[in-house]
Amino acid sequence: MPVRRSKVLLVKWFFESQHKLQTIRWCSSSLRYKELEETSTQGQLEPEPPITASIPGVKPRPHITPEISFKHDDLQVTLAAPYQLQRKPDAIDLGFGKYFTDHMLKIQYEKQLGGWQKPKISPFEPLSIHPAAKALHYAIQLFEGLKAYRGVDDKIRLFRPDLNMERMNLAAARSGLPMFDGDELIKCVKRLIQIDQEWVPHSETSTLYIRPTLIGTEATFGIMAPESALLFVIMSPVSAYYKASSDGAVSIYADPSVVRAFPGGVGNRKVGSNYGPTIDATARAASMGHHQVLWLFGPNHELTEVGAMNIFTVYINEHGDKQLSTPPLNGLILPGVTRRSILELASQWEDLTVKEEVMTMERLIMLNNSGRLLEMFGSGTAVVISPISRVGFVDKEIYIPTMKQPQPVFQRVKDTLLAIQYGHIEHPYAVVIS
Ligand SMILES: Cc1ncc(COP(=O)(O)O)c(C=O)c1O
Repeated sequence: MPVRRSKVLLVKWFFESQHKLQTIRWCSSSLRYKELEETSTQGQLEPEPPITASIPGVKPRPHITPEISFKHDDLQVTLAAPYQLQRKPDAIDLGFGKYFTDHMLKIQYEKQLGGWQKPKISPFEPLSIHPAAKALHYAIQLFEGLKAYRGVDDKIRLFRPDLNMERMNLAAARSGLPMFDGDELIKCVKRLIQIDQEWVPHSETSTLYIRPTLIGTEATFGIMAPESALLFVIMSPVSAYYKASSDGAVSIYADPSVVRAFPGGVGNRKVGSNYGPTIDATARAASMGHHQVLWLFGPNHELTEVGAMNIFTVYINEHGDKQLSTPPLNGLILPGVTRRSILELASQWEDLTVKEEVMTMERLIMLNNSGRLLEMFGSGTAVVISPISRVGFVDKEIYIPTMKQPQPVFQRVKDTLLAIQYGHIEHPYAVVIS
């Protein structure tokens, strides 16, 4: 009888003291976490450099202490069973992001469990997510886009994946999402590609698009850094991003009534909240016969980006030289991997002046009217290079002679990038997956 009574008392004490036990557990994991955070003070990011993208070799790297990152060495792989393998679509049907490969990579982050958990490759499957997850309410998320190219030598290459990793970590820092060691993610992604290597198209007009995504999964309504997150990587064989006109060029609409980004905002980060609000303006441009929106900013109608691409112009400058120009990284512009590569490559071409500078609609029209504007094009991983031949602006139609140039810069840039990506030339930008 006394034994039974003491058991009852013990159960009663546990029941009444649950909150205290919970607090003790919470305190010990907070202490552990504080320790980790203290050991990673170098994890603070350096500010984005204002220009310098055109100077090779100078690049700020976020330092992530490996202790707080997941590690490729911990990767666990579960291969899809034969019945789970998908039929590979014909190249002609690919489109952009319609089909997905057989496997995906998932890495959970749980602050209460010490942070990043072991990376896992598993068969492709839908996610199960709590309806209160912060990603669904406050867009606490980010994504990336890079490609795997099957080269002429049958080797598979990535193009400067370290830059995508840096951009991911910069976006993570802005949204309170956990940062990680980009090299570790690249190693995990390489393994994922090796497993699904037959999904990398055997073609120079198609590629395997890789979409790393990081979402805040903590299921609470507070607008604060999530204590749980999920980093996942899915892959899709793709062909052209969109259909251009018969000559390969696109027409764009410069709509002064909308902005994509603003100073102090997140135009320079690849977060989903930058994209949803562009749908309406893009649909309006399409209804007027244009392919994309030319995003303007400010009273002077500065050109910032076009669709989801960086914008370039080629014109004859005041010294009579041919100049390739793109807006500077002033916070409104996504620091494109393609943009940076173009600037670095073209600055080595002696017949071209390369400059990051603000271009306004007024100046663009002036250059065009005086016959000095030669070309306009957009750049990005999805499209590579997209020449532009017409700009709609309020009630004007501006025709750009991009497709009339005997040796257009856009073509030279495109050929150089493709030659690197498909292994026609060996170049340090291309990372071979062994
Ligand atoms: C808004 C925006 N600008 C530019 C780019 C081009 O960037 P990248 O060359 O890294 O693909 C992208 C695509 O990621 C984009 O979404």
